[in-house]
Amino acid sequence: MVPRGIVSGTFYLQTFGCQMNVHDSDRMEEVLAAHGWSRAQTAAEADVIVLNTCSVREKAEQKLRSEVGRLVPLKRNKPDLVIVVAGCVAQQEGEALLARVEDLDLVIGPDNLAELPALLLAQRQGAPPIARTVFDIDAPRFLSARPERGKAPVSAFVTTMKGCDERCSFCVVPYTRGPERYRPATDIIDECARWVEAGAREVMLLGQTVDSFKDATLPAPESDDPDESQFPALLRLIAREVPRLARLRYTSPHPRHATASLAAAHAELDVLARHIHMPSQSGSDRMLRRMIRRYTRAEYVARVRRLADARPGMTLSTDIIVGFPGETDEDFEATLSLVREVGFTSLFGFKYSPRPHTPSRKLVDDVTEEVKSARLAELFALMEMQGSAHLVSLVGSTQRVLVEGASKTQPTTGASVRVQGRTERAEIVHLDVPPDVSPAGEIVEASIVRANKHSLQGALTPLALAALPRRIASPSRHVALPVLA
Ligand code: 5AD
Repeated sequence: MVPRGIVSGTFYLQTFGCQMNVHDSDRMEEVLAAHGWSRAQTAAEADVIVLNTCSVREKAEQKLRSEVGRLVPLKRNKPDLVIVVAGCVAQQEGEALLARVEDLDLVIGPDNLAELPALLLAQRQGAPPIARTVFDIDAPRFLSARPERGKAPVSAFVTTMKGCDERCSFCVVPYTRGPERYRPATDIIDECARWVEAGAREVMLLGQTVDSFKDATLPAPESDDPDESQFPALLRLIAREVPRLARLRYTSPHPRHATASLAAAHAELDVLARHIHMPSQSGSDRMLRRMIRRYTRAEYVARVRRLADARPGMTLSTDIIVGFPGETDEDFEATLSLVREVGFTSLFGFKYSPRPHTPSRKLVDDVTEEVKSARLAELFALMEMQGSAHLVSLVGSTQRVLVEGASKTQPTTGASVRVQGRTERAEIVHLDVPPDVSPAGEIVEASIVRANKHSLQGALTPLALAALPRRIASPSRHVALPVLA
């Protein structure tokens, strides 16, 4: 145990990549704060700089390399500066990273974050650069969040599992995050309850394959479908044990576990969002086989249909890779037709890039960069059309919007304040409200008056406006609205 305060100084943390990394960064901040470290406003002022990295796609790793390059002059001026690389690039490269990047002091994997204060202490006492990238396979650790009342975001992340047992041929995650390990359901419930107690209204459950969840204390799945997991039971338990939670979402599920029980949970539980993000990766069976996704296009469609049918108004989004080795025009056409057939309302699209250690490195990366770019552009063009049509279809409807904070652009008149929030399906809605109402964290009814390119403009219904807390009346609640990107 490190004596508190001994090495306290300031740290600056920069996060790349997915929500899992954002979550890990939050936990790192808490661990450092608990050991007397405080946050620096800029990298130049900090005693320790932590880069929390992502390696799922090529660009993120390039970003890290140029970021470290930018820090080198700082280190020249301040030789005591400790530069730490955390996250997936750290795990993937380990000691090799120390050898390759001269100015690094510490390389720390996602399972070793709790050791950060002790490792920093050693660094400040003159220890040589070191890499700690050991998976906690036998005794998995999940750093618990320490939500503070009044400081909680409207929507909080809660980790339910880590690692991945799938072996999708393109994906580096099994090598950077290790095998699947599940957090005990009781710890998950406790953390959700603590977030709600601190003021959060929504929880986003996080896991690499969030729907493969297992916990021996939960009821066993009732069917003998081998793809069933205890994820639906976990959702039911959260709904029951954290009744004040307004909304529950999860990411990212794998289609294999999008089972009948999961659909039943969506039909049963009002707290679940009417939106599911379900990565498909491709609409071509040949590509899906080469990607080792372990489902066919028809199976994917049947599974997401069952989920969508479980709840009126459910929307779906997805992840797609274009230009996987061997992808022909015909394969890509199949992907476009999947996007049309399922009617996704949004998607994340990526150009394939070979990652270290992955099985697909043995396949020839034969789709040219030009073709990859053209396919991605075509995919995005289709998505824009579908996405806009969906948003336009909501004009005139009434939506329940969970307000998150102030919008980035404000009306010029000053007579009203623009806030933004999300519908039950996670569409972004902007609302102009009188300056004296304080809606962050509230669920309000809004009529949708206009569709923007990627969001909606709404107006509070008169009833919703009357019901809102006034700032003067409740000065302690959400006085300063966080500005959202
Ligand atoms: N190349 C391109 N995209 C990838 N993804 C994962 N690995 C790769 C890769 N090697 C995408 C997948 C995944 C998302 C998080 O990133 O679509 O769902």
